[in-house]
Amino acid sequence: MELLIEKIKNEGIVLSSSVLKVDSFLNHQIDPQLMQEVGKEFAERFADSGITRILTIESSGIAPAVMTGLQLKVPVVFARKRKSLTLVNDLITASVYSFTKQETSEISVSKKYLDEKDKVLIIDDFLANGQAALGLAEIAKKANASIAGIGIVIEKGFQDGGRLLREQGYRVESLAILDSLENGMVSFENSSEK
Ligand code: G4P
Ligand code: NA
Ligand code: NA
Repeated sequence: MELLIEKIKNEGIVLSSSVLKVDSFLNHQIDPQLMQEVGKEFAERFADSGITRILTIESSGIAPAVMTGLQLKVPVVFARKRKSLTLVNDLITASVYSFTKQETSEISVSKKYLDEKDKVLIIDDFLANGQAALGLAEIAKKANASIAGIGIVIEKGFQDGGRLLREQGYRVESLAILDSLENGMVSFENSSEK
């Protein structure tokens, strides 16, 4: 997605050979117009998939997920990372291990908002090792929902998540795929220039 790639080129900050900071439009401040285009792009790519619900994880998945839900006219559910005061009964949970933070966390969704009639599109901001996406897929499976695919705003192609998810048979659509962050520079995979 050209607009997104330009934004990353102009505003992305390479923090290390493995981490890209995009706080000006995705992870802290949000660019609503760009997110709307992101939503349109996911909606187009999954237009014929019969999606009934979007599933994402707080917090940075919510903006692209909502914009996609708006386009597809389906509700958006976000998995919670912390126990909620009001969300206590009938939870579906999964454990997610973060290699980055070296810790496991429980994520949860209420049974009320995901069931066997659903065809789910999983959306997230970044794909690194794929553990968050796998946790969301596990939640969808536990709800007996089917999974149409996984939409990622920025995939780090040099980490394992994309390969892992595709090997498991998931359709993964990434709007920008980073080839490398070596030497303080962002380089993109050609396959992302769709
Ligand atoms: P994984 O799910 O793919 O295995 O990723 P990992 O555990 O490594 O990711 C932990 C957090 O770091 C996630 O956000 C993820 O989106 C984010 N992340 C991973 N790589 C990058 C990167 O290169 N740049 C940026 N900006 N973020 C990255 P989170 O902790 O869940 O936070 P939130 O922003 O969703 O609240
Ligand atoms: Na995320
Ligand atoms: Na994030």
